[in-house]
Amino acid sequence: MNEATAPAPGTAPSAEELTRLCDFIYRRSGIAYGEGKRGYIERRLAQGMHRTGTASVATYLALLRLSPAEAERLVNSVTVNETYFYREEYQLRCLGRAILPEIVARRGPGDRVRLWSIPCSTGEEPYSIAIWLLENWALVDAYNIEIVGSDIDSGALAAALEGRYGDRSLARLPLAVAERYFEAPLAGRRQIIRDLRESVSFTPANLVDAASMAAQGRFDVVFCRNVLIYFDDASQRLATRHLFEALLPGGFLCLGHSESLGRLPTGFAQRRFEDAVVYQRPAAA
Ligand SMILES: C[S@@+](CC[C@H](N)C(=O)[O-])C[C@H]1O[C@@H](n2cnc3c(N)ncnc32)[C@H](O)[C@@H]1O
Repeated sequence: MNEATAPAPGTAPSAEELTRLCDFIYRRSGIAYGEGKRGYIERRLAQGMHRTGTASVATYLALLRLSPAEAERLVNSVTVNETYFYREEYQLRCLGRAILPEIVARRGPGDRVRLWSIPCSTGEEPYSIAIWLLENWALVDAYNIEIVGSDIDSGALAAALEGRYGDRSLARLPLAVAERYFEAPLAGRRQIIRDLRESVSFTPANLVDAASMAAQGRFDVVFCRNVLIYFDDASQRLATRHLFEALLPGGFLCLGHSESLGRLPTGFAQRRFEDAVVYQRPAAA
């Protein structure tokens, strides 16, 4: 713990104050921090108080309600942004081999196909989708492919727009592929080439907020990977309802490998393809 992460003497939160802070985070994001994560939340609280120069926990909790900017910074500080290029590559294979062929079978050449990566964290997932399709899907130029990345974390979205990545993010990407879509390394980081950066758009959205989800319109495929694990049952139900609404009839939802809709009452049908199991909003009758 350093100066900014340890509570100042006499400012340690009570159990009730910590519960109020966790409730605030939960209502904003759907992320459920239980008893086991109280130390983590306490450190984020100490950082927030340090950042805002707040002398007591009670004052900081009051400030959160008055300052949307600080509420945003707090939420940004508690998100887990772990991601990397070509993560769970089997789903990218499934996209090119099974999902997109089904979708474009109902379309004409030049028609728009909309893909949504939510949450996209720092951008590796939507850029991976773009790179994968350019590398592997022969029909990529025959359709108007639109790729959107969204996240609740405004700091992660800013990093996604900039598109600069270190070795850890790039580790799974074949070198020849990296050479084609990234600038030369500069101070240990490589930036996505401008053409590719401009082909993906980024916009904030919150999985548990109906209005922010509806504002993005409808999509043919949604990648919603590695976030539902941070939600409790109620947030998962809310998020999956919004995801269902975000899909066009016949559209597909891809979850992370440890996630499933198994226990949730949803209108989705499960589809088992050779490369992956995904979910589909039934096509209109
Ligand atoms: C572990 S990352 C997953 C990124 C990417 N989908 C992947 O699988 O590599 C989880 C992301 O979920 C985002 N997140 C958490 N709650 C969210 C919410 N309510 N709405 C949108 N994004 C959220 C976090 O900000 C974080 O960037």
